[in-house]
Amino acid sequence: MKALEIKKGIYWVGAVDWDLRNFHGYSTQLGSTYNAYLIIDKKITLVDTVKHYMFSEMLERIKSVIDPSKIDYIISNHTEMDHSGSILEVADIAKNAIIVCSPNGEKGLKKHFKKDMKFKVVNTGDSINIGTRNLNFVLTQMVHWPDSMATYIPEEKLLLPNDAFGQHIASCERFDDEYEWGRVRIEAAKYYANIVLPFGAQVNKALEAVSGLDINMIAPSHGLVWRSHIKDILGFYKKWANNVCEKKAVVVYDTMWHSTEKMVYAIKDVFEENGMPCEIRNLQTNHISDVMASVLEAKYICVGSPTLNNGMLPTVSAFLTYMKGLAPKNRIGVAFGSYGWGGQSIGDIENIMEQAKFELPVKGLKIQWVPDDKELVELKNKVKEAVS
Ligand code: FEO
Repeated sequence: MKALEIKKGIYWVGAVDWDLRNFHGYSTQLGSTYNAYLIIDKKITLVDTVKHYMFSEMLERIKSVIDPSKIDYIISNHTEMDHSGSILEVADIAKNAIIVCSPNGEKGLKKHFKKDMKFKVVNTGDSINIGTRNLNFVLTQMVHWPDSMATYIPEEKLLLPNDAFGQHIASCERFDDEYEWGRVRIEAAKYYANIVLPFGAQVNKALEAVSGLDINMIAPSHGLVWRSHIKDILGFYKKWANNVCEKKAVVVYDTMWHSTEKMVYAIKDVFEENGMPCEIRNLQTNHISDVMASVLEAKYICVGSPTLNNGMLPTVSAFLTYMKGLAPKNRIGVAFGSYGWGGQSIGDIENIMEQAKFELPVKGLKIQWVPDDKELVELKNKVKEAVS
């Protein structure tokens, strides 16, 4: 395991988690990486670490450059254990290392580790000189935890923003321009939709804070390092942070006996007749974290479920709970579904969409038993009202 020099004297020493398929409920079909960076200067600095079970991989990479006992600073940009999970092990080897973190980072790390450690707490505007370079700190609270911060090295034009701008991709490649761009963009969007979406206001603040910085490389804590598509990813984050949507729809549903499914395809026709792309996401075949990637830029979110036991199907309920927590804004919702006798699922979907502050231009659309042609035409006319 070798380190990779990303700039003169700065090395990627992270770990590649090829097998990761579930990151606390986020489906990571491509695996992920935990990126740590080693800076060789008068003071040897390690920026972030890796998940505890990948410590030996990181250590081997560090050893390919220097003796790890020589590390002077461990910068903990974020407490979450995919990045701080190996701090104790590093501190055990580098006995004099000081852990640099935000005020909330100190609280979080003490709660996680319950050990005496040497901390240096920093705030926005603070700086540490490590020799030929300065580490400038910017607190990025709630992007995406209260402790989150970014480290900027002006001499290198390098931003180390931890989770922000990440993607869950395990790969041999380390840079954005070495990987298929379409896939990088999709994974960056999925990551934003599932991790960062609730924090648009804070993302805007963070973007403002870094807008004056001279940056030619952004090295996040997951996935590929940005060196060629910096303008693109900053532009996407601005768009997503402001919930700027495209004129497109996503229809999310589950079905029991295909009646709700018939409604799905009738609804799709309406959007297409109005010149809008419409993605169909069956919750039996799509993971909710992938569905959120579709939701990210869609103006119209249509959700359907038949009624089971006086409510929604559990898959639909789980999706709505998840989506509501991620809090997409400025959306138009359509609730629909088939039923046999009760029909409560449609009202339940509407209730959650209302709580999520979706605009609901048409009342929940329901069809009893199996939709016939006339009912499907009526359904389409109602959906047209929502689209126009
Ligand atoms: Fe990648 Fe919030 O941890």
